[in-house]
Amino acid sequence: MCGIVGYVGKQKASAILLEGLKRLEYRGYDSAGLAVEHDHAFEVVKKVGRVNNLVAETAHHRLAGTTGISHTRWATHGGVTDANAHPHVSSDGKFALVHNGVIENYSGMKKFLLGQGYKFLSETDTEALVNLIAYHYKKEVDRPDSSRFLESVRKTLRHVEGTYGIVVLCTEHPNELVAARKGSPLILGIGDGEFLLASDVSAIISRTQNVVYLKDGEIVDVTPKNFTITTLDQADVAPVIDRVTWTLEDAEMGTFAHFMEKEIFEQPLALENGMRGRFSEDQSTANFGGLNLTPADFRLIDRIYFCACGTAWHACLVAEHLIERFARVPVEVDYASEFRYRNVPLRPNSLFFVISQSGETIDTLAALREAKRKGHVTAAICNVVGSTIARESDGGIYQHAGPEIGVASTKAFTSQILIASMFALYVARMRDMSFSDGVQYVQALKQAPDLVRKVLEQAPHIKEIAKRYAHHHDFLFLGRLSLFPIALEGALKLKEISYIHAEGYPAAEMKHGPIALISENCPTVFFAPKGEIFQKVVSSIQEIKARRGKTIVITTEGSEFPAGLTDEIITIPDCHEAVLPIVAAVPVQLLSYYIAVELGRDVDKPRNLAKSVTVE
Ligand code: G6P
Repeated sequence: MCGIVGYVGKQKASAILLEGLKRLEYRGYDSAGLAVEHDHAFEVVKKVGRVNNLVAETAHHRLAGTTGISHTRWATHGGVTDANAHPHVSSDGKFALVHNGVIENYSGMKKFLLGQGYKFLSETDTEALVNLIAYHYKKEVDRPDSSRFLESVRKTLRHVEGTYGIVVLCTEHPNELVAARKGSPLILGIGDGEFLLASDVSAIISRTQNVVYLKDGEIVDVTPKNFTITTLDQADVAPVIDRVTWTLEDAEMGTFAHFMEKEIFEQPLALENGMRGRFSEDQSTANFGGLNLTPADFRLIDRIYFCACGTAWHACLVAEHLIERFARVPVEVDYASEFRYRNVPLRPNSLFFVISQSGETIDTLAALREAKRKGHVTAAICNVVGSTIARESDGGIYQHAGPEIGVASTKAFTSQILIASMFALYVARMRDMSFSDGVQYVQALKQAPDLVRKVLEQAPHIKEIAKRYAHHHDFLFLGRLSLFPIALEGALKLKEISYIHAEGYPAAEMKHGPIALISENCPTVFFAPKGEIFQKVVSSIQEIKARRGKTIVITTEGSEFPAGLTDEIITIPDCHEAVLPIVAAVPVQLLSYYIAVELGRDVDKPRNLAKSVTVE
């Protein structure tokens, strides 16, 4: 949510900032802007809309400096206008600042600063912050020049309630950036004679793979030659330099039309990477190096809580099904945003799990912290290495799905289910699952990439269906057991990228309300795999047909339906329950994708959404 890029080095900053912003655009695309420092003055360019609008606008500017900051905005305070776009400049003209997060006490600050004669040009919380830095800078007149900039930022941040990732420029300190974070991600990239600051790795990967993941409460002072990290309390921090394992190519679209399409087709690879090296030698269970829990610890756990937001919450629901079914441990699932305020009475021997692709979702992070505060053992399934949630949980499992850029999550979702399924096996094998059932389960998991490849071969067929149904305004998605969460996910995908109203329901619940929606104008996507409740699902389809509803049925090979019951059929391979939700998710991803393309939607950047929600 909001993307930040800062640069200090020998190159022209603007080109590097714009390239970084393009890669961060999935974090917000209401407006974009940059500020470059040159000859003790700023050149600021801001534009409503996409980064490309900003690129076009910068053509009319010199932008000669080698130090600069930039921002792509997802609006929180203040409408989508050029004036509200970042960077914001203090009214004395000395500071420029980009900010990701929310300053909760900004109105008090603003009132105080207005009283001190500072002027405000925007409706944002950020402008209060930059003016407060200017205020402290003015007051610190007796401080040695070398630390005056840094200390003014530090002083200001001590007054801030809320969240921030910021990068600040000062006209009186050319070639210097001061950046800090609390609750919003920020990383420092260490390049060759240059440093970059960014909300995530994708913005800087073309220039360096060496990064420092800044922690909450840390401030970094950067010049082209050096950087120092300290805390708000002025304690020195020894930097830990990590090497990013993925490359620029992983974050590029290649020959695909959209990142979402690329990521759907990358799923077999993401699944292979998620499993690599994670099965026991006897191939009967999974191994996780980073969970930091012994089998003895696991024997004591009698309940697992899962919390997440959005698509990751759907992955939690699948985890619930698989863990209860195979490991026989009770699982509870909650929205992280609800959990954090509900004061849930957690039982003593509970494991608290969160799932987050980005590892930065603020509600998920808050839920994790709340569980930790209550003394619970915590664990996380995350995709982004070094993310806040990954770092703050007691143990964790990385997804290794590679960077996900499309705002609508696809490969991260199936990879989360894979990890959840492997985790279910791991716990099951410590309890009552036999060796041979474990071996069978592992074999099934290993087949998942090929099964997904088979579904992907049906893309042209699904595209044709999408064309026939794209003009409908309402859809129902119905599934049962582990495919109920996939029905929810199918409906979410369609809503997110097509702006078509869709609802997911457990198939048998349809009779208790949603059936009223059925008409020839509201098609239903049905998950009807072979299995013990196949006939029940067939009855539900019949009820829809009796009301002239159109049906798109996703079923497994060899299933038979009474004549006239299905308007469209998508067949997925017959498979073990351990992988069924993964395989079944792919057709609805493709269906949503092709419907959105048919409608001419901006698939990778759907309106009003952002990939990583780092504000409440
Ligand atoms: C946003 C994204 C969703 C994502 C959710 C949770 O709403 O648009 O695609 O599922 O956040 O994100 P996380 O990074 O925690 O998985």
